[in-house]
Amino acid sequence: MGLDLGDREGLPEALCVLLQDYPRDAWESSDNFGALIRFWLERHIMFRRLMVALREETERALDGNIEPAALAGRVSRYGSMLVGELHGHHNVEDAHYFPRLRQLDGRLEAGFDLLDSDHHALDGMIESFTKSANAVIQSAGKKAEWEQRAAAFRTGLIGFETKLDRNLVDEEDLIVPVLLKYAPPDLM
Ligand SMILES: [Fe+2]
Ligand SMILES: [Fe+2]
Repeated sequence: MGLDLGDREGLPEALCVLLQDYPRDAWESSDNFGALIRFWLERHIMFRRLMVALREETERALDGNIEPAALAGRVSRYGSMLVGELHGHHNVEDAHYFPRLRQLDGRLEAGFDLLDSDHHALDGMIESFTKSANAVIQSAGKKAEWEQRAAAFRTGLIGFETKLDRNLVDEEDLIVPVLLKYAPPDLM
């Protein structure tokens, strides 16, 4: 199994050392679970919801239940929110949180390299998403062209959604246990 997004099915075992002590179902009841972790997990939930909304609205339009022009408005709104918020989120993680968190437990360093390469891979997916979304928006008045582009957009969204979710889940599995165990006072 490769470690790229799309190849792996979770964090490699060596990076789950803290996750074993802090399993998901015990996160919220942990002493160090606070506003920062809650806020950060909620950002991830928002990204997942935006992806689902984009896919479902596109499917509704392909099924003829909403007009291409209405889809264009929603793709524009949800899509620009997704792209803007994801970029901002990645920037804060790359520049601020991850460099600090990677110092806390040497056993997990490779995990931060993995998240870094995920972010680079996601950059490419965000770029393809933007191109494909614009193609759907711009072809709203041309039926045959629109159908082809909306179908391609839907297919792209499914791949993007799966890979983004893989990154989010693995990131949570790596980071939340670090925060719960070490609770760095400068971050929390
Ligand atoms: Fe991230
Ligand atoms: Fe994140």
